[in-house]
Amino acid sequence: MLGVPPELNAKFKHWSDTIIGGDNNVPGAPQPPESIRAIDELGDYFTAEIEKRRSNPGPDLVSALVAAHDEGEVMSAADLLSFVTLLLVAGNETTTNLIGNGMLALGRHPDQLDALKRDPSMLPRAIEEMLRYDGPVQSTVRFTKEPVQLGGTEIPAGAFAMMIVAAADRDPAQFKNPEKFDITRDPNEHVAFGEGIHFCIGAPLARMEARIAFEAMLERFPQLRLKDPAIKPTYKGSYFLRGLESLPLAID
Ligand code: HEM
Repeated sequence: MLGVPPELNAKFKHWSDTIIGGDNNVPGAPQPPESIRAIDELGDYFTAEIEKRRSNPGPDLVSALVAAHDEGEVMSAADLLSFVTLLLVAGNETTTNLIGNGMLALGRHPDQLDALKRDPSMLPRAIEEMLRYDGPVQSTVRFTKEPVQLGGTEIPAGAFAMMIVAAADRDPAQFKNPEKFDITRDPNEHVAFGEGIHFCIGAPLARMEARIAFEAMLERFPQLRLKDPAIKPTYKGSYFLRGLESLPLAID
């Protein structure tokens, strides 16, 4: 979609991983130098690409955004650059982690995995439960323009607020047995993709990618399970994204 040639996949993955790695800092602390370098390199790449696609547009999303920018001045050059960077990181890291976290949840709940194997039509609902139970995005941030009352607490105007959507998704006031991983959960009004005007633009794509990945895995490897059912996995370093370093599986 971004019109990036496949031979650059490894480089993009490296940039994305390094940028995400820089999130393992307390909010407000300086970014590590390697993360700044990755942001700069990615910025240089996209700046050159934006110029190329301005004169020679292709069928990709970056060309469409450049054209919209040129015609209507809807996005500044800086906005355009940060938007394509956001698309790369938001579109790659999150879906990877949905597949990993979701597989871990299934592996730790063999009864749910068996139920899904018996009836693959449950997959869309199972994916919603993966998003709720162990979502790839743990929190979002907002700056308050005016004082806000929330759950009996007043947040003053001009505050930096972190909303822990992962906690909201385990809220007993919203979900029955919130700690239970239940692929039949219905209704399942989670906020793993946020809420309101900033609701995730990539939600349909993320849901589709997860569906394709799980369908293929379960069909191709009917015995798929965790290699070590008692695994204590290591998580990648980020305070607001949640994803596994690795997840060894057994297939026979
Ligand atoms: C499982 C995968 C994903 C999860 C859990 C996720 C989660 C989220 C969340 C929680 C937000 C709201 C942020 C906020 O309110 O501040 C968001 C926004 C956004 N997401 Fe996703 N996302 C996923 C996949 C994707 C994909 C695949 C793309 C792009 C291809 C994408 C692009 C975006 C963009 C551009 C925004 C900003 C929307 C705006 O501010 O109006 N996301 N996402």
